Amino acid sequence: MGMSDLYGPADEAESIATIHAALDAGVTLLDTGDFYGMGHNELLIHEALRGRKREDVEISVKFGAQRAPGGSWIGYDASPAATKTALAYTLRRLRTDYIDVYRPARLDPNVPIEETVGAIAELVEAGYVRHIGLSEVGAETLRRAAAVHPISDLQIEYSLISRGLESEVLPAARSLGIGVTAYGVLSRGLLSGHWSSNREVNAADFRGHSPRFQGENLTHNLNLVEALRAIAEAKGATVAQIAIAWVASRGSDIVPLVGARRRERLAEALGSLEVTLGPADLAAIEAAVPAGAAAGERYAAAQMAHLDSEH
Ligand SMILES: NC(=O)c1ccc[n+]([C@@H]2O[C@H](COP(=O)([O-])OP(=O)(O)OC[C@H]3O[C@@H](n4cnc5c(N)ncnc54)[C@H](OP(=O)(O)O)[C@@H]3O)[C@@H](O)[C@H]2O)c1
Repeated sequence: MGMSDLYGPADEAESIATIHAALDAGVTLLDTGDFYGMGHNELLIHEALRGRKREDVEISVKFGAQRAPGGSWIGYDASPAATKTALAYTLRRLRTDYIDVYRPARLDPNVPIEETVGAIAELVEAGYVRHIGLSEVGAETLRRAAAVHPISDLQIEYSLISRGLESEVLPAARSLGIGVTAYGVLSRGLLSGHWSSNREVNAADFRGHSPRFQGENLTHNLNLVEALRAIAEAKGATVAQIAIAWVASRGSDIVPLVGARRRERLAEALGSLEVTLGPADLAAIEAAVPAGAAAGERYAAAQMAHLDSEH
């Protein structure tokens, strides 16, 4: 996402080099959305995958978010017709004939989930989609969707400071055999150890509006990061590595989705694979950043309203 949108300018050559470095290191899952830069991210992935074997990579695509030419967000459309049309364009941009995991970015409040999943099921039947996923939906929507067609994966924010899924959504996913791709594992950079209160963000940067990155909330949240830093340093790791390793420790059904957009950040993130968190480490992390410790919601109010997972 950050290679095409929402986190300020990105360097295209560096983005492609980062995807190459990830694939060369054994990363197999690339996550995108057709609305990340209005097609830019899919075209970027196509470029990065030139000369690679399609079957070596799993591509997860989100659709449904509607955007105007200037980039403004103008709602969601996950109706059956929009679902099929979006996939047709996605396949062209990615120059592929199938998508591994296809999912609506949000629950469309005007379309029953059964209809959206039913439309993707037809695309599975026709061979254009391998697996059906969902994003930021709650337990009831998961159950309704899974009654129509097996759901492979739920993409949802999960980090040391975003643990809302633990009470109901994660148990429901587990009872239905649905895996989780956790996004925002670094809380969009806040939990990375590299953020500071004097970092400048431009108007198009999500973090310029996100409640957790503002004023007193930011000061409070960066204090949590310093508590984590002490634990990380004692283990010879970085804050980002501890934050990623913590999410990975939550279960083999949870895949941390890391938003590195430069090779240097990717290398740091991959270092988390070398970090093993034992019971004493987990207890220290839990004491430093207990559930609910963050100040501020994970999205601004208007965006929270679109999160079925929070209702
Ligand atoms: N389903 C959904 O609703 C949803 C929502 C958001 C994202 N996603 C998906 O999840 C992916 C990851 O999300 P995200 O990018 O917001 O999450 P993230 O991994 O929490 O944050 C990534 C940001 O953290 C900073 N960072 C600092 N150190 C890093 C390191 N060692 N490795 C990686 N990043 C580091 C980078 O910012 P700087 O480059 O500015 O330093 C980077 O852009 C996205 O690409 C997207 O595919 C899904």
